[in-house]
Amino acid sequence: MKTILVLTGAGISAESGIKTFRDAEGLWEGHDVMEVASPLGWKNNQDLVLDFYNQRRKQLLQVTPNAAHHALVDLQKSYDVQIVTQNIDDLHERAGSSNVTHLHGELLKARSTFDENLVMDWKKDINTGDFCEHNFQLRPHVVWFGEAVPMFQKAAEIARTADIVIVIGTSMQVYPAAGLVDFVPDHAPVYFVDPNPNIPESRQLKILREKAAEGVPRLVESLLTEADEN
Ligand code: APR
Repeated sequence: MKTILVLTGAGISAESGIKTFRDAEGLWEGHDVMEVASPLGWKNNQDLVLDFYNQRRKQLLQVTPNAAHHALVDLQKSYDVQIVTQNIDDLHERAGSSNVTHLHGELLKARSTFDENLVMDWKKDINTGDFCEHNFQLRPHVVWFGEAVPMFQKAAEIARTADIVIVIGTSMQVYPAAGLVDFVPDHAPVYFVDPNPNIPESRQLKILREKAAEGVPRLVESLLTEADEN
């Protein structure tokens, strides 16, 4: 069975109703990203950061996976599908994808500010005064700008063994995530589904200039047909 690496960004969740980051003049839901997604932002205004993610969490619980998330589940019938997502939503999991690696953390988890390995499921608000078992404040389990990306090694291993790559809805501006494609073997075709792609087509990279909910089901259908024929 061939392995498919699927690298997803904010664009795959856009049609579920979650706004992308860089389509709104650099603002994320009205905020400078450094204000709400950096260690300095946290130090300067913890309540603002908590409130920001509390709102994102409430929004996430009201939206559902779209046709692109569902199509990637169908792909598992004939391929070993390994999803590496930059998104902190859980829409891949809710659709039914089995192997999902979150590079930038998960909105429905909280973690201790004392021990980064102390992570817990968390669906309600995180407030100032919510403490871990060691009596340290909880924070969202997300990777902020300037922080390490612990899941990158695992993602790079997946990229090294990929036979086919699908990249969906990402501006390819944030590293190390954008650098994952550099680990992909030269013989592996790369499909990039994005209505406004930010990287050029090449012999290895084929661009499908479409929204995810249309382009991904179409691509999945053709890859399933290809698998049946082999
Ligand atoms: N279908 C597919 N792609 C879409 C759609 C859609 N319906 N709508 C928008 N896009 C594309 C845009 O053209 C753009 O290329 O999604 C991409 C969104 O880019 P960004 O907003 O930069 O999101 P992303 O690449 O995921 O950001 C990376 O930056 O702020 C950090 O940690 C955050 O994980 C995030 C990282």
